[in-house]
Amino acid sequence: MVVDTNEMTISRDFRATLNGPIWALAFSPDGKNIHAGGIENIVYSWPVATLDQSEAMAGTPRSFLEKPETLKNGERQFKRKCSICHTLTEGSARKAGPSLYGLFGRRAGTVADYTYSDTLDGADIIWSSDTINALFDLGPDHYIPGTKMPMQRIAKQSDRDDLIDYLRTNTVQKEK
Ligand code: HEC
Repeated sequence: MVVDTNEMTISRDFRATLNGPIWALAFSPDGKNIHAGGIENIVYSWPVATLDQSEAMAGTPRSFLEKPETLKNGERQFKRKCSICHTLTEGSARKAGPSLYGLFGRRAGTVADYTYSDTLDGADIIWSSDTINALFDLGPDHYIPGTKMPMQRIAKQSDRDDLIDYLRTNTVQKEK
């Protein structure tokens, strides 16, 4: 939203979060546009001064590749909550976070092609069911204070369990 701080009223509402989480928000260098990126692989850009409400984010259809209800819970958790930032195969690609390939038994902060925060680089954690569970039970900001991984918690134990099962079978080389 754009808030008029003289009147303390909402002057524009982009209705952005109605279509899933927003992970990144920034003004263009000239300050004329606001950009928002979320769960989808596209960035929205709106002129701050002349917002056309018909182009608010909430009015645009979602571009999920698969219908969430056709996926098993663990896969759905990963696709909705992690896949925008992490690959499961070798190579981190141009994603915000490191590849999760070979995650189990891996020491935190050790993917070669990824530039970690100072906090994760050299952290003592070994990734396992227990440590991944704690990461999302407590949230990255509490489990590893100072990490650049964004705040998020997965409240339900069954969702964390399903996600961990999915990761366990999908972060290793599959048999051909
Ligand atoms: C918006 C981007 C984003 C999302 C969404 C996200 N992560 Fe991350 N993740 C990161 C970043 C960035 C880092 C590196 C943090 C650092 O260097 O401090 C990271 C680090 C990690 C690490 C540590 C990896 C290592 O090599 O030590 C794990 C494990 C992890 N994420 C798992 C997940 C899982 C599972 C999900 C989904 C529930 C998820 N992340 C969602 C951005 C994200």
